[in-house]
Amino acid sequence: MSKTVIKVENLSKKYVIQHQQDSYKTFRGAITDAAKSLVSMLNPRAKNENLGREEFWALNDVSFEIKQGERVGIIGRNGAGKSTLLKVLSRITEPTTGKIKISGRVASLLEVGTGFHPELTGRENIFLNGAILGMSKLEIQRKFDEIVAFAEVDKFLDTPVKRYSSGMYVRLAFAVAAHLEPEILIVDEVLAVGDAQFQKKCLGKMEDVGKQGRTVLFVSHNMSAVESLCTRGIWLYSGTLGLDGSPQSAISMYLENAYSLADNVLLADRTDRTGSGKVKATSFRVLDADGKEVPSLQSGKDYYFEVGYSNYTGLALSNVVFSFDFFDERGNTVLLFRTNFTNSNMTLNKKDGYIRCKVNNIALANGLYRFSVFISHADHEILDFIQDAAYITVDGGDFFGTGSSGLPSHCKILAKSEWLSI
Ligand SMILES: Nc1ncnc2c1ncn2[C@@H]1O[C@H](COP(=O)(O)OP(=O)(O)O)[C@@H](O)[C@H]1O
Ligand SMILES: [Mg+2]
Repeated sequence: MSKTVIKVENLSKKYVIQHQQDSYKTFRGAITDAAKSLVSMLNPRAKNENLGREEFWALNDVSFEIKQGERVGIIGRNGAGKSTLLKVLSRITEPTTGKIKISGRVASLLEVGTGFHPELTGRENIFLNGAILGMSKLEIQRKFDEIVAFAEVDKFLDTPVKRYSSGMYVRLAFAVAAHLEPEILIVDEVLAVGDAQFQKKCLGKMEDVGKQGRTVLFVSHNMSAVESLCTRGIWLYSGTLGLDGSPQSAISMYLENAYSLADNVLLADRTDRTGSGKVKATSFRVLDADGKEVPSLQSGKDYYFEVGYSNYTGLALSNVVFSFDFFDERGNTVLLFRTNFTNSNMTLNKKDGYIRCKVNNIALANGLYRFSVFISHADHEILDFIQDAAYITVDGGDFFGTGSSGLPSHCKILAKSEWLSI
């Protein structure tokens, strides 16, 4: 029997949120506060102590053990506590109550912004991270070329990482964490940033790391990746351990616990985003053809997908690319609306505004979809990217005009067809 490398006992983590008590408040700020107090009314985990101070249990009495060599997929909806759990295990943040015991060196790849020193170059950060992991200079040197080749950042090795694009940053951060021979590798869902080819490379590398007898903890919304990489699945639900078992059983629980648009957090308040932040998505709505907000979609109908934005550049900004992506329950992209497909890149107002994308005759089969918002400037600079901006259910509708809704368990995209016998 292999030895236990991680032991978590009755772990709880409380956040105390201090609201600003300004006498001066913007209209938008007041609206946001009103929405937040509504959310906390609906959310049993949030407790209003008194005005302006709120306690929130991001993790609540979580216990489990992980043995050496296990590859554990941690899944759960947004806000379930996945990143908090990884941060506690990486000792970035302290438990409020409970205990954790870890034996072995941990390398973690958490949300962008942790782990690297922004002012240091790629090269310096590789050495710094190796040193933190307790490796000698010689050991790091031996791994150096492999890391650089994996991350494909050779040209930018002597550039401070604060100048890296988010894609480059994540590639280097992953390469460092995976190659510096940690005994335990912890990866949050940063892989979402890379392109499909790089994601595949990362999954392969994590599998290798696991096969070498090392332990991998992996948070992802990509159910196919969890299914193929992991030997075990943990489903977190509202800060508690909902299920600890096979990856398949954890995935089933996650999928059964479906979403509705009403559960979506205000985009303005989301912290799980990447990009320069010069422009930020602040809100999301779906409207029907008459401009009325709707909670879910029906196949074959016409909709407006609307994203509100704040522009912090102080200038009207032209040639801005918006991309709205639909992912199925397994994490595969099934539909993509992008301004530059139709030569309709947007010009943004100086301060804020809304972008609407009109989609006619939506061709999605019944099911649950995840929706991401991507904003870039002329395709060069990522301004804002929120991976799971919203969850959208397609429920019913009559795409074919025959009453059939297709076979949702078999296909996600519908198309009209004509059949001939010749
Ligand atoms: N530093 C923080 N301060 C206050 N609340 C936080 C902080 N970090 C996370 N939270 C809250 O804790 C909950 C769990 O967050 P997180 O662990 O990031 O969830 P997940 O990674 O599963 O989406 C969320 O509701 C989030 O808003
Ligand atoms: Mg997270």
